[in-house]
Amino acid sequence: MNELWSGMVRRTDPYIPGEQVNGEGWIKLNTNENPYRPSPMVFEALQQALTSDLRKYPESDPEKLRVALAELHHVSADQVFIGNGSDEVLAFSFMAFFTPGKTIRFPAITYSFYPTYAALFNIAYERIPLQEDFALNAEAFYQSDGGVIFPNPNAPTGIALSLESLEKIAGENQGRPVIIDEAYIDFGGDTAIPLLERFDNLLITRTMSKSRSLAGLRIGYAIGSVTMIEALNRIKNSFNSYTIDQLALAAGVASVKDSDYFQTTVQAIIRTREQSRSVFESVGFKVLPSAANFLFVHHPDIPAEQLHKSLKDKQILVRHFSKPETEEWLRVTIGSDDEMGMFFQQLFDLVSAWTD
Ligand SMILES: Cc1ncc(COP(=O)(O)O)c(C=O)c1O
Repeated sequence: MNELWSGMVRRTDPYIPGEQVNGEGWIKLNTNENPYRPSPMVFEALQQALTSDLRKYPESDPEKLRVALAELHHVSADQVFIGNGSDEVLAFSFMAFFTPGKTIRFPAITYSFYPTYAALFNIAYERIPLQEDFALNAEAFYQSDGGVIFPNPNAPTGIALSLESLEKIAGENQGRPVIIDEAYIDFGGDTAIPLLERFDNLLITRTMSKSRSLAGLRIGYAIGSVTMIEALNRIKNSFNSYTIDQLALAAGVASVKDSDYFQTTVQAIIRTREQSRSVFESVGFKVLPSAANFLFVHHPDIPAEQLHKSLKDKQILVRHFSKPETEEWLRVTIGSDDEMGMFFQQLFDLVSAWTD
């Protein structure tokens, strides 16, 4: 604590991102990155964007990408907002829609950036316990005071809510913001986009970091009513005029155009996820039913922290969350088939050494 720190800094509890490692030989299954490279069309677009135009500022309004995303999702271009990763879109959404003095709700086990933003922007919150099977308790989100936010599928559990439940949550919060973070929706679950026609309190956030292999370029977006998108633009334009750089813009448009590559890689990850689930179960793990690109797993005999550490000693990173409600679980990102093969080889050795 420093006397020069503002109240805002004093009340922060910064998010701790998953470890990024340098050097050869690591298998990284800890930050839900995509194991496949970005589409070849992205590389072409990046090459073409490497011109002397880089001396200029990018467009303040990334219109080309907004239009491409609007076509993809069958909405109008003024229903799309683009930000520097969905983390930025989420931060802007906290500022744009949640009000100090009103209490918002999010799940007790969820993306740990939400409590961080809530602290930063002075928003009171209730953490809503999950059901015994780790699914979200939809009814507990009805009639909130200041609005709700949750991922669908949820992270780190991977469990998705039905469209019917999403509709009820939106309808039971009329006049209050309902933010659905669809970071993982391309890997499973129903998108809430069709509900936008009926609910103007709904905002859906998306990212190109996971299903489009572009975590390194930081592209996130939101889809909502024109009024909600205007609110996000008002925040963004009071903060930083150029949140999307020229290269990210070119790559984002190219990625949206290459739907074949997108489908092929997403389907490959879903296939590997389902195979991996069976393999985990065959060596005694409990595995939650995931609609995302990761599995949340628990072994009844081996402490998760120990597994996390032993795997790291073998240059394999998975994610362990040390909070009491998640400390017995590991979140394992779905890698390529080769990476998962090497991961399971090491895991089998650890499990048999522990249970012998
Ligand atoms: C639920 C959820 N939302 C949002 C994000 C942020 O994604 P990005 O800022 O890369 O778009 C993540 C990343 O792990 C996430 O798990």
